[in-house]
Amino acid sequence: MASPGRSSRSSTSRAPEFPTGPSGGPAVPAVGLGTASAMFLAEDDFRAALLAALEIGYRHLDTASVYGSERAVGEAVADAARRGAIASREEVFVTTKVWCTQCHPDLVIPSLRESLQNLEMEYVDLYLVHWPMSIKPTKPHYPMKREDIVPMDLRGVWQAMEECHRLGLAKMIGVSNFTTKKLQELLAFAKIPPTVNQVELNPVWQQKKLMEFCKEKGIHVTAYHPLGGQRRTSTVNPVLHSDVLKEIAEAKGKSVAQISLRWIYEQGASMVTTSTKRDRLKENIEIFDWQLSDEDRLKISQIPQHKKVSVLSILCPDGVSSVDLSEVDVVEV
Ligand SMILES: NC(=O)c1ccc[n+]([C@@H]2O[C@H](COP(=O)([O-])OP(=O)(O)OC[C@H]3O[C@@H](n4cnc5c(N)ncnc54)[C@H](OP(=O)(O)O)[C@@H]3O)[C@@H](O)[C@H]2O)c1
Repeated sequence: MASPGRSSRSSTSRAPEFPTGPSGGPAVPAVGLGTASAMFLAEDDFRAALLAALEIGYRHLDTASVYGSERAVGEAVADAARRGAIASREEVFVTTKVWCTQCHPDLVIPSLRESLQNLEMEYVDLYLVHWPMSIKPTKPHYPMKREDIVPMDLRGVWQAMEECHRLGLAKMIGVSNFTTKKLQELLAFAKIPPTVNQVELNPVWQQKKLMEFCKEKGIHVTAYHPLGGQRRTSTVNPVLHSDVLKEIAEAKGKSVAQISLRWIYEQGASMVTTSTKRDRLKENIEIFDWQLSDEDRLKISQIPQHKKVSVLSILCPDGVSSVDLSEVDVVEV
């Protein structure tokens, strides 16, 4: 995996960037702001967090057609440019994703065009296949019914993704929630290989096999749930409540969140994280001028592993249990 370079986007941008591809293609900022929380937050709080992040120095916004956050992301970028927090839209790396309901060869380009309309932008920096799964065509929604899963035409979908790139609508194309097996399948026919795989990654779900595979194939990994994700139903977050991370954090005078984010950065992965609180947004990008020791890394490598996300998390709890989910599950140790 490529080593990070300093950001070239602006003097106020604080996160380094990871070059992508074998010949150092367009760079991905090391830390970005996730926007899935738009589905649960009051609109004003969400918009305030977006603007605060841009003011603080975040230069990657991660959205998706299913989050319902594209319009607010586009407006925040335009607002930040008007206020002088950023020079222009070009300074911000924008990712969006095609949802399972549009994961059909003829629906990918129209879905990106609709996302661009919501964003009021001419291109996205990165367009991702959100999940290796197709659902009967309908408006993007979540959770979905198991019985609406249909076989995925991965080759046809990827050809449409490649066309998005050729048309200049997406500077880079990639995938999300792809296992090594799914990536292998894709790489066998891709004319433009995926630049990025966005997956659950943090010290309690280290994905060693997938990380090795992506490194070997030159696919950049972006971590989601870098702090263990939002926990609305359970108070225990195995990342933020990890005794190992707590001990390292106390010894270093850092927060547990910073130890987790720094560990991800040292794996050569970028990340998308969220907070509604300005001080936490700031804290979460103050991870670049110090490092973990070999001893810290060894302790972290021994943390018991638990994954949060499986395909079941995006499906309705009831439904036809006979539908085979093995092709789309995301177990990767
Ligand atoms: N590709 C995919 O399938 C996929 C799936 C899931 C998520 N994502 C992307 O990843 C993004 C991030 O996911 P996420 O928000 O669940 O993960 P996260 O960043 O791991 O967790 C965010 C949670 O951590 C808390 N937090 C943030 N900074 C903190 C700090 N310094 N100290 C203590 N707590 C802190 C936040 O609470 P407060 O707001 O109270 O600070 C929030 O509840 C999403 O928004 C989305 O863009 C992608």
